[in-house]
Amino acid sequence: MTSTPPSTVAANLPTGVLVGGRWRPARSGATFEVEDPATTRPIAEVADGAEADARDALDAAVAASEPWRRTAPRVRADLLRAVFDTITARADDIAALVTAEGGKPLAESRAEVAYAAEYVRWYGEQAVRVEGLARRAPAGTHHQLVLRRPVGPALLIAPWNFPIAMIARKVAPALAAGCTCVVKPAQLTPLTTIYVAELIRAELEARDLPVGVLNVVPSSSARRISEPLLADPRLRKLSFTGSTEVGAALLAAAAPSVLRTSMELGGNAPFLVFADADLDAAVEGALQAKMRNAGQTCVAANRFLVHASVADEFAVRLTVAFDRLVVGHGADEGVTVGPLIERGAVDRVAEVVQQAADGGATVRTGGSAPAREGYFYRPTVLTGVAPDARVVTEETFGPVAPVVTFGDEDEALRLANGTPFGLVAYAYTRDVGRAMRLAEELEAGMVGINRGMVSDASAPFGGVKMSGLGREGGEAGLDEYLETVYVAL
Ligand code: SIN
Repeated sequence: MTSTPPSTVAANLPTGVLVGGRWRPARSGATFEVEDPATTRPIAEVADGAEADARDALDAAVAASEPWRRTAPRVRADLLRAVFDTITARADDIAALVTAEGGKPLAESRAEVAYAAEYVRWYGEQAVRVEGLARRAPAGTHHQLVLRRPVGPALLIAPWNFPIAMIARKVAPALAAGCTCVVKPAQLTPLTTIYVAELIRAELEARDLPVGVLNVVPSSSARRISEPLLADPRLRKLSFTGSTEVGAALLAAAAPSVLRTSMELGGNAPFLVFADADLDAAVEGALQAKMRNAGQTCVAANRFLVHASVADEFAVRLTVAFDRLVVGHGADEGVTVGPLIERGAVDRVAEVVQQAADGGATVRTGGSAPAREGYFYRPTVLTGVAPDARVVTEETFGPVAPVVTFGDEDEALRLANGTPFGLVAYAYTRDVGRAMRLAEELEAGMVGINRGMVSDASAPFGGVKMSGLGREGGEAGLDEYLETVYVAL
């Protein structure tokens, strides 16, 4: 098999910062390299934006704010629908770019593009459905109107693991609500954002709409962009997807200006398999929940909690399924698992697997990095894992499935909830009563019952506890960009 050379799409991209509808170099002239994690070779050079570029971008977002706020919802909806159509028409090019800079297999990249496009379509549809309320006050003395209006200019900071879907899930509701934005793409995967931003810019220009509604500042340092903007009172909203550690620092920086924030942070998803589960379905769900993007998703199943009576059978079947996976360059035919994003990620995964093995865990398959170029790690199944092993207590963000056993439902819940995180939980059971109990008792913002995938543009995505604040997707995702104004008359 031969690897597809770095996408020619990358070669034809603008590589600057996008400010007020114009691409230009960073003010300092600096650039940074983007590499293909499957080969470690550079594929593009992108403008390295800094404080001055961030301020320029906010100036443009502020200037466009009033005209965009006044733009008819139907016009905003039509723009988003046109963007959906273009993303869909160019899905192959965009998917090639997602694979080139992020490493995921092409089929997964295509699925991500379709998922991203759905956010754009959904919020285009919602733009004309922003609802308020009118009623008489209970005392009958006056009327109460509840109006919604855009929050104002927003800073949107995206992660590297879904370079188009996470941008779409922030930009689409912001634009639908009437907010303008400054986007900071991930340093490791800015190219897809740049591609989509250019597509939106061209669409705005073609429709004679304010081009400054979308500004993009790639940078090798998120802090150089976030610090000046979070200190600027003209910024009214921050949406961030990334680690809990960085999210907490951003929350602290956002506190002095009492900024509206949406935080989609780390997870430590439990995947529960009860004795009455359909084991084939559970293994299929486990593959989905664990191996999407080689385990590099916030919703990745991090811990497999399996009833002792079926734990061995589950581990055997999961091992067979993992052994069928094909590790390689995401652009190669038949590959189902791509690389991790960078060297540090491989080192971290290797470290937690070694720590589990040192603590008595058995490596059923994998447990090492293959001898090849790129940041790869073999799909790994561990059994006999101590509940306090780091591979269980920390978010692994890699292709590792530790299996821990439980004795009854109470213990399963105790283990599942025994973490400061609460993004998503998965459970496999045929017992409807138990399914309802789990839905109520699992401390997570999302629960998948007999499903290894919960994400959907029309559903509220987000966590509880240290996994975040606010929601993205669905009606709740639009609310994040709207103020509520009560009028008594
Ligand atoms: C994430 O990993 O944060 C996003 C995953 C998804 O939207 O399904």
